[in-house]
Amino acid sequence: MTPRVGSRIVSFGHHQPSKLLTNDQLTEMVDTSDEWIRSRTGIVTRHVAGDDETVAVMGVAAAEHALLTASVAPGDVDLVIVATTTAEQRSPNTAGMVSAALGMTAPAIIDVNVACSGFVHALALADMAIRAGSASQALVIGSELLTAFTDYTDRTTCVLTADGAGAVLVQGTDQPSVGPVAWGSKPSLAPAVRIAPPTDKFVQDGRAVYKWALGEGAAHARKALELAGIDAADVDVLCTHQANLRIIEPMAEQLGMTDRIVVTDVVESGNTSAASIPLGMSKWWHAGKVGGDQTALLFGFGGGFAYASMVVRTPALPL
Ligand SMILES: CC(C)(COP(=O)(O)OP(=O)(O)OC[C@H]1O[C@@H](n2cnc3c(N)ncnc32)[C@H](O)[C@@H]1OP(=O)(O)O)[C@@H](O)C(=O)NCCC(=O)NCCS
Repeated sequence: MTPRVGSRIVSFGHHQPSKLLTNDQLTEMVDTSDEWIRSRTGIVTRHVAGDDETVAVMGVAAAEHALLTASVAPGDVDLVIVATTTAEQRSPNTAGMVSAALGMTAPAIIDVNVACSGFVHALALADMAIRAGSASQALVIGSELLTAFTDYTDRTTCVLTADGAGAVLVQGTDQPSVGPVAWGSKPSLAPAVRIAPPTDKFVQDGRAVYKWALGEGAAHARKALELAGIDAADVDVLCTHQANLRIIEPMAEQLGMTDRIVVTDVVESGNTSAASIPLGMSKWWHAGKVGGDQTALLFGFGGGFAYASMVVRTPALPL
C-alpha cells in the first residue's frame, strides 16, 4: 500500500428491518398522538429490528449491499470501521464480527463510538488511513439498535428511536472527493444525550439539543465548506443527522440550502443515531433522489456532545 492523495466514495448500501412501528401503534403504548409526533418531529414510521437482527447483522447487510453495488469482493477490503453506540458486546468489536461474517482476509477492524456523529468521524478516519497508506479500500458502516436501549414507557424518547444500518465503500484515488472533516464537541453539553447506568436507556435533554442545533449547528456545518474550499452555492445535497424534521428544515434555511436536495429520511426511518446519515444517503441515492456526482454536505451531531461535518462527492448512480 502506498499513501494516496485522498479517497472517494464508490458506493452506498443500507439495511432496514422489515418490522415497522407506526405513530398509531405508539399511541397504544404511551400517552401520545400521531398529531404530536408529526408536528414536533416529522416522524411517521420507524423500523424495529427482529430478534436475529443485531447491530453486526444489520451492518453486514448494509456492507454487502455496498459491495454488491460496486462489484467489489469482501477480500479486497483492508479496513472496516463501524460507527455504533449500541454494540451487542464489548469484544470482538462489531467491525470484527462484520469482517468475519463477510469472510474477509485480513482487514484492520475498528469501532467508533461517537453516537449520532459517529459515521462522519468514521469516514474521516478511513480517509486519513487511505491518505497515510495504511489502507487502500475501506468499508465505513453506521449500524444501530437504538430500540434495545429505548424505554417504551417514556413518551419523550420512545417516539424518536429506531434501528438500521448504512454503509459506504471508500477507495484511494488521486482525485479525492472526500473532504476534510470539521469536528469537535461541547463538553458542557455532555450530559444532554445519554445511554448510561442505572437504566442503560436512551435519555436526552431534547430542548438543550434543539437549542444547540439551531443556535450553533449551522456554523459548525459551514466549517466543512471552508475546509473543502467551496461555497454554500456549490452544495447539491444536504444530509444532516436525521433526528427531527423540525431541526433539519430550519438548519437548511440557515445554511441557505432549502432549494437543494435536503435528505429527510427521518420521516420514514426515525432517529437511528450513527446509522442515520449513511442510511438516508444510501436510500435516497439508490432511489435516484440523490444524484450521482453531486456535492453533499454531511453534518452529524449528538451524544458526547459531539459534531462532525464533511463535504463528499456522491458516486455515479448504480445501473
Ligand atoms: C425531543 C423533542 C422532539 C421534544 O419536543 P419539544 O417541543 O422540545 O417538547 P418538550 O420536551 O419541551 O415537551 C413539551 C410537552 O410535550 C410533552 N411531550 C413530550 N413528548 C411527548 C409525546 N411523545 N407525546 C405527547 N406529548 C409529549 C412533554 O411532556 C411536555 O409537556 P408539558 O409541557 O406538559 O410538560 C425536541 O426537543 C427535539 O427534537 N430535540 C432534539 C433532539 C435531538 O436532535 N437529538 C439528537 C441527539 S440523538
